[in-house]
Formats: sequence, structure tokens, C-alpha cells
Amino acid sequence: MEHWIDKIEKTHSLEELEELRVMVFGKKGELAKAFAKMKSVAAEEKPKVAKELNLLKQKLMEAYEKKRAELEEMELLKRLKSEAIDVSLYTPAAQSGALHPVMHTMDRIIEYFTDLNFAVETGPLVEDEFHNFEALNLPDYHPARDMQDTFYFRDGKLLRTHTSPVQIRTMMRQKPPIRMISPGAVFRRDFDLTHTPQFHQVEGLMVDEKGRVSFANLKWILEDFLHTMFGDVDVRFRPSFFPFTEPSAEVDISCIFCSGKGCRVCSHTGWLEVLGCGMVDPNVFEAVGYKDVSGYAFGLGVERFAMLIHKIPDLRSLFEGDLRLLEQFR
Ligand code: PHE
Repeated sequence: MEHWIDKIEKTHSLEELEELRVMVFGKKGELAKAFAKMKSVAAEEKPKVAKELNLLKQKLMEAYEKKRAELEEMELLKRLKSEAIDVSLYTPAAQSGALHPVMHTMDRIIEYFTDLNFAVETGPLVEDEFHNFEALNLPDYHPARDMQDTFYFRDGKLLRTHTSPVQIRTMMRQKPPIRMISPGAVFRRDFDLTHTPQFHQVEGLMVDEKGRVSFANLKWILEDFLHTMFGDVDVRFRPSFFPFTEPSAEVDISCIFCSGKGCRVCSHTGWLEVLGCGMVDPNVFEAVGYKDVSGYAFGLGVERFAMLIHKIPDLRSLFEGDLRLLEQFR
């Protein structure tokens, strides 16, 4: 039996030691066998043999405990060494991320209007006909519904085609005066060089007592806003039509690619259309239950602003997630 002590002392790993433990101290191990043999020892020999056996057991235990402590210590040292962190090791500086140009442009637009105390309102992307069309003076027989190719759900709900329903929701929730913008995603069934099925708009709405909000106010704020966004450009208001505003206008800036001389981007007109606006149509106020008020509203496409500000030629490149494009905006 003594050779087991030798074996224990020569183990090199905790796994090996565990195997030995089972072989020596286990239920069917060497010690158990040795003790079992006591039965066949003559009565007068028994005390002596038993004493020797117990002594041996004690020695084996001691050898085992000693070895275990030793091996555990060794493994710990090994782990500490392999898991050590070298704080002086060279690592390349982490690359900082950046906002996507559309979100960055959105933030700049929001900042302009919040600085003028406009509140930021949001609404659901899945809208109903009432908020997206009807309350905006677009009854279902109205030809202008064709202007907006709508994604419909089976239950009659739809993906909002513009941020204008947020005007309706805000007015139905609050009493005038209102001074709000509504940034967010909108959806239309359109996909080509200049259209993506999802894009972003910022809506603006100002409502106060009748006579307190005029087209002059609208003109002033949009001119100032466009100069803030595009710098020293000419701004012009062109009569236009929207069902929810009367009178309505589309707003152009002088082409920032050719300074108004005429180029391919502006179709040789010298002008770029950047937003739609007008005085809120009385039918809209009626739909939300507002009386004796006047107001202006405007809406713009954020992607268009981002493309013009950063001179990005293809709208689709904004949504391809190509790092070569995105890295230029860090
Ligand atoms: N909702 C219009 C659009 O999506 C933009 C607009 C908003 C025009 C508010 C006038 C007033 O095209």
C-alpha cells in the first residue's frame, strides 16, 4: 500500500489526483479493500493490523491533502499568469461613430425650431384615414389622394404618407395657441433615383387667435430657417396647392450647385424646391373643432435637405449602409 503515497506525490494535475483519490479512498478503493480483509485476520492480530492500517490511511490522507493544496496553488498561479492584463500593451484608438447624415440634418432642423420655442410632437407611423387624409381636407373622392401612393393594411389602416396627421392629433389634444414641429418617418409606394419607400419629414404648425398668424410670419420664419440651413441663398415662394392649406406655396432656394446659373441638378432653372407650406385651411380647423383661429403649416423632406447640404447625388446611397459613404460624415 505504501506505493500509493509515492503515486500521489508524483501526480501533476488535479484531474490525475482525483482519479487516484477514487482508486484509494473510494467505496471500492484500495483502502476499503484492505479494511475488508480485516475479517480474515486472526483475532489476536487484529488490533495490530488495524492500527497499522489506520496509520497508513492517515498517511495517505496527509499525502493527498498536501498534494491537493500544492496543485491548487499551481493552477491558480498558472491562471493568474495566463489571464494577466498587460495595461501597457498597445491598442489602436477606438474609432468614434457618427450620426447618419439624415439624422444629423434632422437634429439641425429640430434645433432651429426648438430654439424658437416650437414644441416637438410625435405621432404613430400606422395611421388611419381620418388623421392622414379626411381631417386634412382630403375626403376619399379627392383627386389629391393620388398624389400620395399609400401603403394600406387589410383593416383599412395605413402607413402615414406625411407628418401632417400629427398636426391633427396635436390640435385635437390641445387648445390653441400651438407652436409645434413634428419630425419623423413617412412612407410612400415609390422607389427610384429620387424616391425611397421610407423617408423623413419635419412638419411645422403655428396656430393662434384669428389675425395673429399671417403669411408674412410664415415667410419670415421660412426664409430665416433656409438661410440658417443653406447659407447665403435666394428664397422664393411659388403659388401651389395643398388640400390642407389655403393659400399654399412651394418654396425654392437658388441652386447651391450652380449659384442659380442653371445646371443639371436644377434642370437648368436655377432653383431647387425644398418645402411646401401655406395658411391652414378652414376645413382643417373645423375638423379638429378650432374656432376663430388662424395658422400656418409647412412640411419638408429631410433626405432632400441632407442631400443638398452634403451634395449627395443619389438618394438611395443614404440607405445602403456603405461605410465608405458614412465614414465621410464622422
Ligand atoms: N404634407 C405635405 C406633403 O407631404 C407637405 C406640407 C405640409 C405642405 C404642411 C403644406 C403644409 O407633401
